[in-house]
Amino acid sequence: MDQLLIAGGRPLNGEVRISGAKNAALPIVCASLLTAEPLKLTNVPGLRDVTTLVKLLKGMGVESQRSDNGMILVGTDIHTPVATYELVKTMRASILVLGPLLARCGSAKVSLPGGCAIGERPVNLHIKGLEAMGAQIRIEHGYIVAEAPQLKGARIFMDTVTVTGTENLMMAAVLADGVTILENSAREPEVVDLAECLIKMGAKVKGHGTDVIHIEGVKTLHGAEHRVMPDRIESGTFLVAAAATHGDVTLVDSCPEALQAVLEKLREANAEIEEVGNRIRVRMRGPNHGVSLRTAPYPAFPTDMQAQFMAMNTVAEGTTVITETIFENRFMHVQELRRLGANIEIEGNTSIIRGVPSLEGAGVMATDLRASASLVIAGLIAQGETCVDRIYHLDRGYERIEEKLGLLGADIRRVAGQEGA
Ligand code: EPU
Repeated sequence: MDQLLIAGGRPLNGEVRISGAKNAALPIVCASLLTAEPLKLTNVPGLRDVTTLVKLLKGMGVESQRSDNGMILVGTDIHTPVATYELVKTMRASILVLGPLLARCGSAKVSLPGGCAIGERPVNLHIKGLEAMGAQIRIEHGYIVAEAPQLKGARIFMDTVTVTGTENLMMAAVLADGVTILENSAREPEVVDLAECLIKMGAKVKGHGTDVIHIEGVKTLHGAEHRVMPDRIESGTFLVAAAATHGDVTLVDSCPEALQAVLEKLREANAEIEEVGNRIRVRMRGPNHGVSLRTAPYPAFPTDMQAQFMAMNTVAEGTTVITETIFENRFMHVQELRRLGANIEIEGNTSIIRGVPSLEGAGVMATDLRASASLVIAGLIAQGETCVDRIYHLDRGYERIEEKLGLLGADIRRVAGQEGA
């Protein structure tokens, strides 16, 4: 298992290009199931999750070609509308095939995702929404078995804001008979990016980006070309890494408008932020003030940035409080940050972080994607060497992270871990 070795204490400086967004690319790749014609994508990040999803779709009948950051997907004949446990258990986002498969093929068999490190993460709202559209669904041997010769438009209220739930139902509704109204929809920019791709494919979608999405079903969708939006969480991670190391970094090809809650918190932490077009420059004005925050659905502060801010707060002045409201178990990084000398207490869904003068390098273990990013940031701040183990989590969501950080001046390298490590 690969590890990252980081010699901390160096400020990050320079420019870094942001990749396409993982959480936009995944649903958009699934949208290729909705048409027999080619879907041509650009700015697709080279990530393990994308590779896993393409492999899953290949088994269903979708052929793909990859070139640099482009991808062409063609689902002429979807012969096997099945997502097996072997692949779904490695990536929960595989649930995103359920809506499109049902809409295109009239039936689908998709494994229930099973356990997850950051929280319970049920898919009841995906199932309930599809049932409201006329699908017959049963759970059989760990699989969601769904049938609907023709989905029908429906008014669907989701009692919790769910990103992939909204995306799944939107992809089902584009080929349904009649109008679907999704209430209390997720407003995340990735949902909007998917809607824009679907519109290019001939779908009739309105209201994306608000909490009520209106979809008028059409008979068929056609091929299209789409550029995946920039990754706002990769952007935020580099911004926090730059601020936490008192560096001066400019993001290129980013998406400032989708990052306002994060940029606001960085300003509060004493960073100066300049936004020009798709570029964002960050540098600290003086001491790190630390920031208290509470995660919530977009446009509020994203849960996917909570762990990175916590790493920065460990060496901030004074005490800060971070409250996680989306996932029940998203403080797995706390134990590891403590190994580096951080002073953090957990009370329920709140962490209290008392700033310490500095962190000290140590061996730490990555537990999930964003927790891993927070450990890398902590390693960049810490004095001495930090070894982050189990970085396969990072490879799921950050394209060439050690290379990008290295170009910004970090002393970081990937090494093959020892057997049994
Ligand atoms: N929920 C339900 N029932 C459902 C669906 C969700 O109760 O049927 C609950 C969840 O348990 C959670 C809340 O609703 O408490 C929100 O979960 P959501 O469904 O929005 O999460 P998701 O769609 O599974 C996506 C991202 C996550 C990101 C969350 C929140 C993708 C592929 N994943 O997950 O990204 O944290 O939205 O913004 O888009 C990551 O990239 O590291 C990551 C975990």
